[in-house]
Amino acid sequence: MNITIIGTGYVGLVTGACLADLGNHVFCLDVDHTKIDLLNRGGVPIYEPGLKEVIERNVEAGRLTFSTDVAASVAHGSVQFIAVGTPPDEDGSADLQYVLAAARNIGRHMTDFKVVVDKSTVPVGTADKVAAAIKAELEARGIRGGGRLHPPGPHRPGHRQRRRRRKSPGGHAPALRPVQPQP
Ligand SMILES: NC(=O)c1ccc[n+]([C@@H]2O[C@H](COP(=O)([O-])OP(=O)(O)OC[C@H]3O[C@@H](n4cnc5c(N)ncnc54)[C@H](O)[C@@H]3O)[C@@H](O)[C@H]2O)c1
Repeated sequence: MNITIIGTGYVGLVTGACLADLGNHVFCLDVDHTKIDLLNRGGVPIYEPGLKEVIERNVEAGRLTFSTDVAASVAHGSVQFIAVGTPPDEDGSADLQYVLAAARNIGRHMTDFKVVVDKSTVPVGTADKVAAAIKAELEARGIRGGGRLHPPGPHRPGHRQRRRRRKSPGGHAPALRPVQPQP
């Protein structure tokens, strides 16, 4: 499976390396060029026992890549894990600005079905905000209906959808399925 990890920090890097070790093709994105350059030179910005070896063998096998290319990261993963920071706001609540920035990037670039996973520690209701942020970006691109839930799996449009596509100049809306894993 192709998986994108958005935010290559403590959680994102370990999650990405482990998912690659299970045989997935993992694209780890970060906005921090210094961190990505270090990883691409074989360095590891955090210490976790055994992590360096897991990263090395999966980079070597071509299953794990590190990049700052947002468009490529969205194109890569049918599953998009949001693992950016959620520092406490002034009132102690989680600051969702990085989570919502990541969601907007998905909406700006997605062209097909994506499962979006909120891996960051977020309050209940964040999945709805993430879905709304993605949908707003899709609508800004003239793509209507983003945010409708479709069952995962191969999807062949039926008669009704073909009719709907003809009516809508915006074309077929990529479906998204925001999910929030249970602890
Ligand atoms: N560190 C832990 O042990 C731990 C444990 C449980 C849960 N969490 C939660 O997991 C989440 C991530 O924590 P962390 O410790 O990995 O944070 P971190 O600060 O180590 O990593 C977050 C990364 O996200 C990057 N980032 C920010 N905005 C981005 C964007 N729009 N696109 C791409 N990358 C972006 C940052 O540059 C940074 O490298 C937080 O919600 C945290 O509360 C962390």
